[in-house]
Amino acid sequence: MIIQFELNDQLVQVETQPGTTLLEYLRSIELYSVKHGCDHGECGACTVLLNQKAVNACLLLMPTLEGKKVETLEKFSTHQHINSMQETFLKAGAVQCGFCTPGMLLSLEALDREKLDLNEDDVRDALNGNLCRCTGYVKPVEAALKALKENKGKEVQS
Ligand code: FES
Ligand code: FES
Repeated sequence: MIIQFELNDQLVQVETQPGTTLLEYLRSIELYSVKHGCDHGECGACTVLLNQKAVNACLLLMPTLEGKKVETLEKFSTHQHINSMQETFLKAGAVQCGFCTPGMLLSLEALDREKLDLNEDDVRDALNGNLCRCTGYVKPVEAALKALKENKGKEVQS
């Protein structure tokens, strides 16, 4: 079957099998920020944005994407450029092995789009589905709060 959807601001037409997951597809086209973790919707390593919401790509079958909008971390960064949240994570030492980091960054991007006033509970809720085996969450939460507040400040000024 052939489906059409938006991927990182590009309209794509894909021939796919009904049982192929979005995670399998994204990794087959080398979007390796989307990690293959548990494959059961439990670790959040495969988090992407689907119509602005953070979801697990391992649970999404390709036919359900028809007409929808998918974003991965590749949209926000290249080898030459990283976004402000990534920069803050790096400076704060919020990344250790990094396996969970792309998923966390997308969960936080969804939160940033959804809410104007943010506090620590919002950040912790947003990261609820992103399992991290290394950091203990203290540094990621600190970094996220700092970057989100700075972003909101810029939005208010502009
Ligand atoms: S790989 Fe999708 S939630 Fe773990
Ligand atoms: S930094 Fe290693 S799993 Fe989170």
